This record gives sequence, C-alpha cells and structure tokens, in this order.
Amino acid sequence: MQCEAHPVHDDQGQLQQIVVTFFDITERQRAVDSLKKSEALLNEMGRMARIGGWQLDLATGKQVWTEAVYLVHELDTTFEPNLDNAIGFYPPSAAPIVMQAVERAVNLGEPFDLEVEFVTAKGNRRWIHTIGRAVREHERIVALTGVFQDITARKVAEDELASYRDRLEVLVETRTQALNEQLARVREQEHLLIHQARLAAMGEMLGNIAHQWRQPLSALALVLGNLQDAERHQELTPQYLARKIADAHRLIDKMSTTISDFRDFFRPDKPPETFDLSQAVGAALTLMEASLKTHGIAVVTDFCEEARTRGRLNEYSQVILNLLSNAKDAILAHHPDGGQILVRVDRADDRARVRISDNGGGIAEAARERLFEPYFSTKPDGTGIGLYMSRMIIEKGMGGRLCACNRETGAEFTIATPLAPPEQ
Ligand SMILES: Nc1ncnc2c1ncn2[C@@H]1O[C@H](COP(=O)(O)OP(=O)(O)OP(=O)(O)O)[C@@H](O)[C@H]1O
Ligand SMILES: [Mg+2]
Repeated sequence: MQCEAHPVHDDQGQLQQIVVTFFDITERQRAVDSLKKSEALLNEMGRMARIGGWQLDLATGKQVWTEAVYLVHELDTTFEPNLDNAIGFYPPSAAPIVMQAVERAVNLGEPFDLEVEFVTAKGNRRWIHTIGRAVREHERIVALTGVFQDITARKVAEDELASYRDRLEVLVETRTQALNEQLARVREQEHLLIHQARLAAMGEMLGNIAHQWRQPLSALALVLGNLQDAERHQELTPQYLARKIADAHRLIDKMSTTISDFRDFFRPDKPPETFDLSQAVGAALTLMEASLKTHGIAVVTDFCEEARTRGRLNEYSQVILNLLSNAKDAILAHHPDGGQILVRVDRADDRARVRISDNGGGIAEAARERLFEPYFSTKPDGTGIGLYMSRMIIEKGMGGRLCACNRETGAEFTIATPLAPPEQ
C-alpha cells in the first residue's frame, strides 16, 4: 500500500484539512520484485559464464557495463568506463583491431565479432570474445551495444588440444619412421637371406655339375684313348676319325646343355607365368639326376594328372631342388637299404600339389617345431635357410602352402598352390 498526504489550505494560508490517499501498489511492487530477481539471476549467470553486456553512448562517450564485465576486467563497479579507458585493456596486438571494429560500427553500422587478447586491471592476460552492433534512432547511430565474454578457459583448452595434436603427430611420425626403418632392415635381411640361399644353392649346383660332367668327361677320355690306340695300330682311317670326332662333339654338347640348364635356373627376376608342375619338377630332377644316381638313390615319379599353377617357374624349381636335396641328405645320413625318393604331382580340391617323400628316417623330434625357421639346421655344414626360403617362395610369393610330416620310413613335404586353369 502507498499512502500520500496532501495538506489543503484556505485563502489565508491556514491549514484546513489533510487529504490522505491510499494506493494499492501490490501489482507494481510485484513487478519491481520480479525485475530485481531477473536482474540478480542475469548477474549470477553472467558471473558463472563470465559473460556480460555493454553499451556505449556515442553522445557522451560513456559506457554502461553489467556486473560480469566488471568481473572479467577485475574491476569494482566504481570504475566509470568510457571508450578511451576501455580500449586501454587491450594489448598492442589487439587494440588496433578492436579500435577499427568500433570505428566501422560507429561510422558504417557494421557489426563486429572478435576474439582477442586482453589484459585485466590486475595485469592478468585473458582471451575475450566481444560482439558489438550499432543502435539507431531515426536512422542515426546513437550507441553501440554488445556482449563481452571471457573465453580464456576455452582458448587454453584449444591450445592444449592443439599441442596434444602436435605431439601426437610427432609421435606418429617418429613411430612410422621407426617402423619404416625396421621394415627396411627386415627387407635388407630378407634380401641377404635370398642372396645367401642363392649362394648355397649355387654351391650345391657346382657339386651337381661335377656329377653331371663326370660321365661325359670319362666318355671323352675314352674317345681320346680310342683315337690314340687306333693311331698306334695304324687303324686311324678318315672315317674312324670322323666318327670319333662326332662322338666327342655329342659329349661336349651334352656338357654345354648342362651349363645352360643351370644358368636358366639362376636367371633372376623371370616374370611370373602359368606352368605345369611336372615341368618345374622335371627341371629340378634333371639337375639332381647324376648326383642322386651316384649316391644310389632311386627317384620314382608319379605325375598322374596335369596340374598347372602360376608363379616364377625357376623359383618353384628351386623349392623342389631344396626338398630333393634335403631328402638326399636325410637318406645319406640314415643309410637305408636302397635310398628312394617318391615325387607325386596331382590336384587336390582347387590346389596344384607336389608331394616329395623319402625313406631317410623322418624329421627329428627336436627339429619338427623349428623346421622353417631361418638358420635352423641339424646338419654340421647346413645353412638352415633352404626350407625358410622355400616357404617364403610358396606362401608369400604364390599364396600357397608348404608343410611337412613324417610317414613310416621318412619325411613327406607337400607344396600346394592355387590351381591355374588348364592350357587351352
Ligand atoms: N627330408 C627331411 N628329412 C629329415 N629332416 C629334414 C628333411 N628336410 C629337412 N629336414 C630338417 O630340417 C632342417 C632344416 O632344413 P633346411 O633345408 O632349411 O636347412 P639345411 O638343409 O639344414 O641346410 P641347407 O639347406 O643349407 O643345406 C634340416 O637341418 C633337417 O634337420
Ligand atoms: Mg636344405
């Protein structure tokens, strides 16, 4: 209730009466209370979010701030803000930007939205987000109004995030580099292994060539002996000489074929092709033939079906050669009565398959788990890379499988590679 008293005087100025009026101001008081509450709530929210409002009166140059704006400036509300002292809180890097934005808003009515650095009254560095727009009265710009928010926490988080990202990138980069280096080392090692395997196989080859040549060489010696005898007994007719020379040429041709066979075998980087397994097995057997024969080892072949696959023929033959040579070693170490190697070629499901079994006593218990490891060998002069290389060629190079097991009298190795369609 609001009460108002009005004195009433007569012409002489004598107090005649007092008129007292009572007003019911409940509604008005409610409205004022509600406004105060709203303002308090707004200020509370502003403090929490560190966001406030400001207005600049262009006629007086004075500013009005809400509580949160004072809070962000670390000032109390006795401070009287105007355009000049407000701009003083921006460091030299930011002041011209803010100034220019304000000028453009005043002169052109352009709104602004800036995130800039800021220094409080207590000298603390902060980041603020300030938004402003022109207020017009009859088309004339009379004031600027806007929002002012402390965004330091967000900026710090963003900076931290960026630094984490940078660190992560560096980490990924370093790890990738380390991985690449490791990969390069592994490749180099693999390369070295392949080289060693080649050298080892070449050593073996030399032995095989020696075996292959023994027979034609002694035959050649025989031809020479024949010629000498004929001459001694005056039986050297031109026809006899011609026949013996032809014999000698045949033997020399045979020796030269052996050399070409070996050379073909080691020709590097032949392109992949589709070939029949018996072709690859045949090539390896030709090279081993004489050596196996010398050691009294019989080879039984069973090429029951055509089985074609795709890959590098000479690499595949090298695998067969490794397996044959291992079978020979096992037989020689085991001394069975009559060494024998059985080579079978067939198709199984969608695989082209070669199985090589021997009667060399089988794979030793201790060797079974480590058979395909590089440098694993139970032989005094073995390099232990034959089976490792063979598995690489078959499994990595051709998408096939090379495995071993023991049968009654010895070991059996199976090579299974994807079947290629038969030749048209
Ligand atoms: N047919 C087989 N019978 C029994 N053991 C075998 C047979 N083939 C391989 N092994 C075992 O597997 C081991 C590894 O063979 P791998 O061919 O990798 O090397 P290596 O033959 O010992 O050496 P290199 O091939 O240089 O002569 C052999 O030392 C042997 O113990
Ligand atoms: Mg071997």
